[in-house]
Amino acid sequence: MTDNKPKSASKTSAMWGGRFEGGTSAIMDAINASVDFDRRMYAEDITGSKAHAQMLAEAGIIAAADADSICAGLDEIGKEIAAGGFEFKRELEDIHMNVEARLRELIGDAAGRLHTARSRNDQVATDFKLWVRGALDGLDADVQALQAVLIDKADAHADWVMPGFTHLQTAQPVTLGHHLLAYVEMLGRDRSRIVDARRRLNESPLGAAALAGTSFPIDRDATAAALGFDRPAANSLDAVSDRDFAMEYMAVAAILAVHLSRLAEELVLWCADQFRYVRIADAFSSGSSIMPQKRNPDAAELVRAKAGRVIGGLAGFMVVMKGLPLAYGKDMQEDKEPVFAVADTLALSLAAMTGMIEGALFNKDRMRADAAKGFSTATDLADWLVRELGMPFRDAHHATGALVKMAETKGVDLDQLSLADMRSVEKRIHDGIYTVLGVENSVASRVSFGGTAPANVRSQVASARRRFLGT
Ligand code: ARG
Repeated sequence: MTDNKPKSASKTSAMWGGRFEGGTSAIMDAINASVDFDRRMYAEDITGSKAHAQMLAEAGIIAAADADSICAGLDEIGKEIAAGGFEFKRELEDIHMNVEARLRELIGDAAGRLHTARSRNDQVATDFKLWVRGALDGLDADVQALQAVLIDKADAHADWVMPGFTHLQTAQPVTLGHHLLAYVEMLGRDRSRIVDARRRLNESPLGAAALAGTSFPIDRDATAAALGFDRPAANSLDAVSDRDFAMEYMAVAAILAVHLSRLAEELVLWCADQFRYVRIADAFSSGSSIMPQKRNPDAAELVRAKAGRVIGGLAGFMVVMKGLPLAYGKDMQEDKEPVFAVADTLALSLAAMTGMIEGALFNKDRMRADAAKGFSTATDLADWLVRELGMPFRDAHHATGALVKMAETKGVDLDQLSLADMRSVEKRIHDGIYTVLGVENSVASRVSFGGTAPANVRSQVASARRRFLGT
């Protein structure tokens, strides 16, 4: 890559040919051209151009016949690209100029009228917004699909008891259904962030032209409406120079990826021999090339890992935008690759997670046995002392601590302490205490709103179906 002699762009094909004499060097093409990746928004480019051409004709800026042939030519190009028969040229830099050059080949001089009252600056902002908007809609559907399988699993395991953890130490018994519904809520907030981001994004940059607007009598409301935007963006400088919609898309994605990574990590942990709470289906597991007994949760590990790429995409692009003066700068061309990578990464992660949850087989006995360990019903015991004996909670906490210590010394669980043992700590304790010491009793008693009781889980499943699935 040391050869920087002009060798590619023929002077005649470059759109700004009027004032340039030599072609560009191959290195210049390599650093400057974006068509290798921005071709991905060819459909948006064509849709945007058609809306612009139609508006130009309606406003009397170009002839209706020219607009018609422009639109027909653009449709033809769309078909060529979709069929894989379009020849993309790096020396034409980007998708916008590739399409326009082909349009000239197809319809002749009328093609030159398309770029009236428009710049690539408002064109690219428009195309990219349309692409990101589609990505947000696709993301919402993918997240909803994951919510649907989580809700079904929660429903099927509403009363399965498992240990709830804090500090990854057994804390209190919870239900598996409740645990799964925690993720449904997180994903629900991710979806509400998607909706918010979409609403803020949905203003049309088209007609801002290079940066200052245009002297042609264009109708920005018409193009905004034709492209499904809520309104035209109010400031032409802002319209061509901000990429906050791309950053926000990746920020929403990054938070979602963090949520997925936590669920993925729990699957990894729960598959381990030390837990054995879950078995991931063969379709999402892999073996070891040397250890025949191994069954590895690779897909879950990769979902856990891929959050790094998504966060990296956001962080990297924010650094690109930081400190950029208004208005457009070529730096902004760096917006597309991270956004595309984030979209692909998340789509794959969500599909893998949805598949893993759908096929996951939980182990009732293992979870129930662990839930009973570690004095997990100590809080229930303390609450009983408060409720039945009228003890202040702090005193009850203290007495319970003494009972836990006694059980630990004897090597037994709390419900295996005799009444006499218990009374040596607090003489008013009676045998009613045993009704709260089992893990089933413990979870059944947690009926406060948002609590883990099976009855709550069942009503939360119904509520989640209504709120998130519309059923
Ligand atoms: N490929 C460019 C981009 O993605 C299109 C806009 C170019 N504008 C310009 N003034 N050179 O940003």
